[in-house]
Amino acid sequence: MTEIQDVTGTAFIVAEYRAEENAEAHPLYLDPIVPLFLNERTRAAADRIAAGFPPGREGVKLRTRYFDDHLDAQLGNGSRQVVILGAGLDTRGVRKQAPGVTYFEIDDADTISFKRERLAEAGIHAPIVSISGNYVTDGLLRLLDANGFDFDLSTYVIWEGNTMYLNRPAVLEVLTGLRESVGELAISFDYLTEAVIDYATGDDQTSAFVRRFAEMGAPWHFGIDDIAALARDAGLIVVDNIKTADLYRTFWPSRPLDSIWYDNYSLCTLAPSEGISL
Ligand SMILES: C[S@@+](CC[C@H](N)C(=O)[O-])C[C@H]1O[C@@H](n2cnc3c(N)ncnc32)[C@H](O)[C@@H]1O
Repeated sequence: MTEIQDVTGTAFIVAEYRAEENAEAHPLYLDPIVPLFLNERTRAAADRIAAGFPPGREGVKLRTRYFDDHLDAQLGNGSRQVVILGAGLDTRGVRKQAPGVTYFEIDDADTISFKRERLAEAGIHAPIVSISGNYVTDGLLRLLDANGFDFDLSTYVIWEGNTMYLNRPAVLEVLTGLRESVGELAISFDYLTEAVIDYATGDDQTSAFVRRFAEMGAPWHFGIDDIAALARDAGLIVVDNIKTADLYRTFWPSRPLDSIWYDNYSLCTLAPSEGISL
């Protein structure tokens, strides 16, 4: 396994948080596949990053449920391709297989090969199109085109745990490129407020959490305060936009909502105005 550092290493951290939900009495989702990728080292790294800050863990669980729900809805609406950008250890291509649906996953070569080996060792041969590459510097559309993606088919894009590592031009290039090239499109992603990125929430626990990601070589650069403006700049509309605070209240009504983190961490789904929507 590669070192648990840099942006690549964050995939193991969030996979640990995601896996914890399997032990809950009333889980938000079940992910029986993700434990294949985890061990004592990934557990230790995840514990170190979330030390004293449960919202860091809980936010990942809430977002997993959001993307799962929206994926189910999009598949129900007839999506034929699912693209998972910066897929890391995402297991939806195994968990959410559907007849006539092709999954495309993009991440760096080390992550892709690690994941394929672990799945093969477990006897899991999911028909996922794994694409090694950097969807910013290699060009997302070029990577898709070279790997059998059909630009005319209805497509759902999951972009989870990524926007914070990029910058506005890169995020806009991804969104605009997809909008211009894919016939029927919806894309969901998570995002932080600018205050989180700028260490300006006034909440020491939140700032310490952000700092621990920076210290592992995975600093967050990009926050979004006006999702409608970003969508407009990309020629898209906001189909859905929700703070993790609202998901928390919905799914865990009896748990105390005890951190500003959840007001600063959101999920959204964008689509062309004439595209598929929920
Ligand atoms: C925080 S992890 C999230 C992984 C997964 N999406 C999830 O939520 O469990 C970020 C992942 O995005 C990948 N990534 C970030 N920027 C990328 C880029 N420009 N091209 C390809 N992969 C990228 C990293 O290698 C890493 O696996």
